[in-house]
Amino acid sequence: DISNLKIAIDGPAGAGKSTVAKELAQRLNIEYIDTGAMYRAVTLKLLDKHVDFSDTDTVVDILNSTEIQFENGRIYLDNKDVTEDIRSALVTANVSKVASIPEVRRILVSLQRKIADCKSVVMEGRDIGTTVLKDADLKIFLTSSVEIRAKRRYEELKRKGVKIEFSEVIEQIKARDLQDETREYSPLKMADDAHLIDASNMSVDEVVCHIIELLK
Ligand code: CDP
Ligand code: CDP
Repeated sequence: DISNLKIAIDGPAGAGKSTVAKELAQRLNIEYIDTGAMYRAVTLKLLDKHVDFSDTDTVVDILNSTEIQFENGRIYLDNKDVTEDIRSALVTANVSKVASIPEVRRILVSLQRKIADCKSVVMEGRDIGTTVLKDADLKIFLTSSVEIRAKRRYEELKRKGVKIEFSEVIEQIKARDLQDETREYSPLKMADDAHLIDASNMSVDEVVCHIIELLK
């Protein structure tokens, strides 16, 4: 059903999920939803408010009075554009900790389902195929070797003028993957009915073409 098509893309950090999902959504002329950006936005707010992540009551109170919106490829947190702020090193270093809190996941998953309701979407994250859109029409698990993912992320940061060592990028990616794969509630895991794509030797365009072939 082209008016209610659900495509789920999951995988580890730096696999190319955002890049591929954005391009795919554009080609199919449907909406793209970056769920990682939502976990990042919540993390930014909790950090700004100096909330202790283990204080679940406070975390839930804050989440219940938080508004997250996507518009024209930008993300708004309580009506403020935070598209750049959520990519900071501090947010990146803390986001997996926040994303491992079950209450946070419960609230964001329900918001993600609401955003995807009654329309066609490409949704990208860690648990889309396993939890958020279990009945998705097409599930992709996108990965690449950790060295290649770190190299691509490093090149991207260099292009943006961020000063960081390659060794640091690879360590950060490994730490985040480990935390995402081993958390108790809804860990990063390939769904049984997902198609595995190893993009270590593929360009963005090749990955997108491959997904369009699978869709047919
Ligand atoms: O930096 P990168 O684009 O790889 O990550 P992201 O997609 O922005 O996601 C940031 C973090 O949010 C991940 O490392 C996970 O801890 C968390 N996340 C999650 O737990 N579940 C999702 N569906 C999406 C992101
Ligand atoms: O969202 P995720 O963390 O999975 O990855 P991303 O933010 O899309 O970043 C992946 C980086 O690798 C981008 O700079 C892409 O241009 C590049 N890349 C890719 O995504 N896929 C390929 N097959 C080749 C390069």
